[in-house]
Amino acid sequence: MDTQRVLTGITTSGTPHLGNYAGAIRPAIAASHRAGVESFYFLADYHALVKVQDPLRVQRSTLEIAASWLAAGLDPNKVWFYRQSDIPEIPELTWLLTCVAGKGILNRAHAYKAAVDRNVAEGEDPDAGVNAGLFMYPVLMAADILMFGAHQVPVGRDQVQHIEMARDFAARFNHLYGDHFVMPSAVIDESVATLPGLDGRKMSKSYDNTIPLFAPSDQMRKLIFSIVTDSLPPGARKRSEGSALFQLYQAFASEEQAAAMRQSYADGIGWGDAKQALFELIDGTVAPMRERYEDLMSRPIEIEAVLHEGAIKARRIATPFIAELRHAVGLRDLRDGAASTKKVAPVVRKQASFKQYREADGRFFFKLIDAEGRLLLQSVGHASARDVGQLIGRLRASAGEGLRHVENLGLHLGEEILGELAADVAVEEVAGALAGLAEATP
Ligand code: TRP
Repeated sequence: MDTQRVLTGITTSGTPHLGNYAGAIRPAIAASHRAGVESFYFLADYHALVKVQDPLRVQRSTLEIAASWLAAGLDPNKVWFYRQSDIPEIPELTWLLTCVAGKGILNRAHAYKAAVDRNVAEGEDPDAGVNAGLFMYPVLMAADILMFGAHQVPVGRDQVQHIEMARDFAARFNHLYGDHFVMPSAVIDESVATLPGLDGRKMSKSYDNTIPLFAPSDQMRKLIFSIVTDSLPPGARKRSEGSALFQLYQAFASEEQAAAMRQSYADGIGWGDAKQALFELIDGTVAPMRERYEDLMSRPIEIEAVLHEGAIKARRIATPFIAELRHAVGLRDLRDGAASTKKVAPVVRKQASFKQYREADGRFFFKLIDAEGRLLLQSVGHASARDVGQLIGRLRASAGEGLRHVENLGLHLGEEILGELAADVAVEEVAGALAGLAEATP
């Protein structure tokens, strides 16, 4: 079977909680390891602006969500992991789709319609307090999906209508301009139960009943002990079925652990003991990730570097594709014969590039190659691909500032050793190549 592209976006409007982890992050990371799958996970920060108009909260949430995914084990070298607003081709495609999207279809989008119905019920103007972003939300989401030719889009039930709209816009566009878009399908994983929150309703920031994924241990314990239960005393037989506490336990337990806990409920475990067991189970799962999370949160520069690399990787798809689409709709070079359907090759400016690779000894390396293909710099070995990715991110961000050559020790960026200059290569050439790269990528 051909490679399947799986894509999903995470709106950067809040702090990740246990429900996000069990329902989205954990299954997505598992899916990214499957063969024959190309995974695209992105931070939907343009979408966040529809609801959140507090800049610090958008920024904070973007950092927290990116750090959570990385701490939970997402390997940015295996997937496409990027921030929506780093891909200018997405808003550009949004406009192309806007011009084929039926306004009537957007009128029927659930989120918009609910806002209008609420206004009408309250005797207000139907569009009172509704921003046009809410109305256009499905078109932006369609651009996210269609830009990368996603076949499958894992989403919650509430989002299925948006995928149907994306298909509708894609079909209209294809009909008018030729076959450019892949038809995406929604994937709802029924086996991933939504987790209950502190009050037993679905864990959701709109109910204010969440347990933050990376709450400090003592806060996590307090929250778990505040989960609502009935008043059966210790010793009384309890039902695991329908118990929010048990459902949470099950989401983090092995099958054997869950079976043993089901038996303890039947044997009359006290709620305090059941809560303590749940706390220990969750805290045990989260603790190693929490350590990585806190480490990442204290080094936003590294997360920026990962996202920067992710954007470059994503734009390798988006940039040529938007050029194809612009040509398709008639946004063309005027020197192109008006009647001609000949495609114009996008102008690719030559620039230096990084090559990453792994040696037989298991260590990771990179090379810096100039625009003509000449070796400039050979790195020292690193323990992980992530280390190399982050170092490249820092090098790119440096734009060539702070490079120094130390006799017998090789090239450094500040205090950090990079590797050996190739024979006959001067530090200035490396700096020049990096400055050129920084200029070419936003
Ligand atoms: N609207 C989605 C949500 O709130 C987030 C999202 C934005 C998304 N763009 C997407 C999901 C593209 C899947 C595909 O959950």
